[in-house]
Formats: sequence, structure tokens, C-alpha cells
Amino acid sequence: MQALPGFRDFYPEDCARRNHIVAIWRGVAKRYGFVEFDGPVLESTDLYRKKNEEGAEILEQLYSFADRGGREVALRPEMTPTLARMVAAREKHYRKPMKWFCVSNFFRHERQQKGRLREFLQFNADIIGESSSQADAETIALAIDLMRAFGFTAENFVVRLSDRKAWMDFLSSRGCDESASRIALACADKLEREPEEKLNAKLASTELTVADLKAFIAGGSPEAFAPVLEALAARGLTGFVQPDLSIVRGLAYYTGVVFEIFDRSKNLRALAGGGRYDGLIKGLSDGSVDLPAIGFGMGDVVLGHLIDETPAAAAQLQSALAASCDAYVIIADESKRTEALHIVQSCRELGLATDFPLKSAKIGKQFQEAEHLGAHHAIVVGQEWPLVKLKHLPTRTEEALDHSALASKLKAYKLNS
Ligand code: HAM
Repeated sequence: MQALPGFRDFYPEDCARRNHIVAIWRGVAKRYGFVEFDGPVLESTDLYRKKNEEGAEILEQLYSFADRGGREVALRPEMTPTLARMVAAREKHYRKPMKWFCVSNFFRHERQQKGRLREFLQFNADIIGESSSQADAETIALAIDLMRAFGFTAENFVVRLSDRKAWMDFLSSRGCDESASRIALACADKLEREPEEKLNAKLASTELTVADLKAFIAGGSPEAFAPVLEALAARGLTGFVQPDLSIVRGLAYYTGVVFEIFDRSKNLRALAGGGRYDGLIKGLSDGSVDLPAIGFGMGDVVLGHLIDETPAAAAQLQSALAASCDAYVIIADESKRTEALHIVQSCRELGLATDFPLKSAKIGKQFQEAEHLGAHHAIVVGQEWPLVKLKHLPTRTEEALDHSALASKLKAYKLNS
């Protein structure tokens, strides 16, 4: 039997890869002063129905079902509605702005394609309670610095920056009501992925055509981006950003600045996406809590593809994956197993990653295993006890010493390396 399509098994090497990605996400988010939160995997389906029109892509992709108590529930497809629900329930407990991040798994019944799975890991970072462009820039700067922490440069990725408000102003100036605007935005979101005739057919009820949408995009809207670009320029980050109104985002709740991150060669789907959503918390709390918010999500799937395709990022991943075994205890004489176990235990208590053979084996085989694990040292326990041999495997140098001096010697070595 295999895992379901779009779901992944995580073998140890996959887990090591995932841990590398998660460690970078967490490290950079903390550097930016974000604190971690999480929510439940299962939510009431109503949480997603409330702010989305019937037929919205995110609803079509829900893993939803009735639970044993007959409740309509869904596996979370994204974090933002959960975050909005949690914030609305307890916002008084927290000083504003709230800078929260999470690393969680999400589920979407997506069409199978490169970069899109049905279960994926996503980093989210959101700033709640601050409506200024400073918060927009802080969020985008975090997204850029995450990418840089993986070893990517401006040659590898670009943040495409847009503005939903500029779009809404344009659409209302062209006589679009709410429903026509929704159709137009959905078509703008698909301009790069669906044929023009198909989109024009969808636009028929709006009095707009693909050509109108493209003309608006080509016109740009420099005034909309000026404050954010200025705050990014002060950080020296403008080289990573490109204003581009063709980004509208697929999700309905965005109200202002929106952005997506793409690989420069445009071979892959978006690596990250987000924007300002000033009405969601109010909408989900039926008006009782009104807080502006901005944030983004970055998934692990496309990121993994780009890491593999980018030599500097791939090399960084490889060195993070290198096995971390400090010492391998070689039992050269099986009658000394008890003494060897004593050494294993004291090394581990000193915090050294230590391994040894669980059953009797030829010395050559044990050395092979030590090499395979990438051990820095082999400790040979045999007839010479209480003397043991300490062998530094990368340089093949060795010395004989009393076993009582061993652990502290290894510890000093680890601290200095
Ligand atoms: P999203 O654009 O739907 O936004 O997802 C953000 C990122 O999650 C994508 O750019 C992609 O890297 C990853 N992702 C999404 N779907 C899949 C999938 N099926 N397989 C693999 N990766 C995927 C959101 O989810 C918003 N809630 C982000 C946000 C946070 N907006 C404000 N705050």
C-alpha cells in the first residue's frame, strides 16, 4: 500500500530536510520578533464558508465531511481564518501589534501538479492591529529574509507586489458591482494560466475583457506602492521587489497590498503569497472585533524544488543534513561490552551524539559503520582497558588514554569545533 496521492511519507532523509526548512523559518521569524502559535487541524466548515462565496476555489478544495456527531467539519486548508477566529476570541489579552507566526500542515484537494500537493507544510507570519505601510514592509522584509536565509539571492527569486485596493478602485470605476468584481479578479488571477478565450467567456457578464485587465496591469499604479517601497529601500531590499498588478491573489479576503514570491526563471508555482486583510477579523466576529491585519504563507513544497535547483541553497541543505555523530564506540573485545556501555552512557550524558554496535561485529565492520554515520571520533575499547584508543576519523590521528579522561576530552573537542 502507498500513501494517498498528494500525501507524503517522511523517511528520515525527508524529515531531516523538513527540519532544516522549519529551523530556518523559526529562526528568522524570531529574529523579526514574531511569536509562535498554532490552532486545530480540524475546524467547523462554516469558518471557511463565512467569508467565501459558494464556488470559491478554497471551498472546492476543502477536505470536508460530517464527523461522528453530525457536525460539518473540514481539515484546515490555510491558517488565516483560524488565526482570525483565535484573535477575535482573545485579542484583549495581547498588546498590539501582535506579530504571530506558525509552522503547520494544511490540506487542499488540489489537482496534482508540480509544487502542489494535498498535504503541505506552510509557514505563516501575520501582523495584527497595525494598518500602516510600515507593517506591510515589515511583513515583506521578513518574507525576503526567509528566502535569503535559505541561500537564495535576487537572481533566484522576486517578490511581485500588487494592491487589491487599486484593483477594486479600477473595477468600480468600470461599473463593476461586488459580483462582477469577484469574477474579474478571479480572471486576473488566472491570466498566466488559462487561455484568453476561456477568460473572456467568464468575463462576459462584466463588460470587461482580458484586454481591459491587461491594460490596467500595464498602466501600473506607482502611487499605491510608494510607501512600502520606501520602507523596503531603507532596509536595502528593493532589489528583491517588483511592482506588478497582475498579482491579485486567489483568496477573497484581501483588501490592500498583496504579494507573491516567484522563482526568477518562472518555472515553478508561487513560493509564498499574502497581503493585507483588514476586514476578515471583523467579518468572522460579526463586527465585534475590528482589527487590521497583514500576513503571508510560505509552503515547503515549491521551496524544496527551488532549493534543489539552486546550487548555493542545495549545498547549504547538504551541510545541514550531514550526519551528526560525535563518537562511535568500537567494541574490539566483546568481553569489554560492559565497559564500552559505560563510556557510551557518559558520552551521551555530556551531550555528545554517540553510537555503538548492538551486537558483536568484526572491527573493520564497526569502523565502516562509524564512517557511514559520519562520526568524528572512534573510541576503541578492547584488551588494553582501562586504556582506550581515541581515533579522530577525518585526520586518522589516534592516541591512547585512560577512559576516565575520555569524555571531557571529547567535549572540549566538540566545543572547539
Ligand atoms: P496561499 O497563496 O494559498 O495563501 O498559500 C501560500 C503558499 O502556500 C503558496 O505560495 C505555496 O507555497 C503554499 N501552498 C498553497 N497551496 C499548496 C499546495 N496545495 N501544495 C503545496 N504548497 C501549497 C494562503 O494560504 C494565505 N492564508 C496566506 C496568508 C497568511 N495570507 C495572510 N496571512
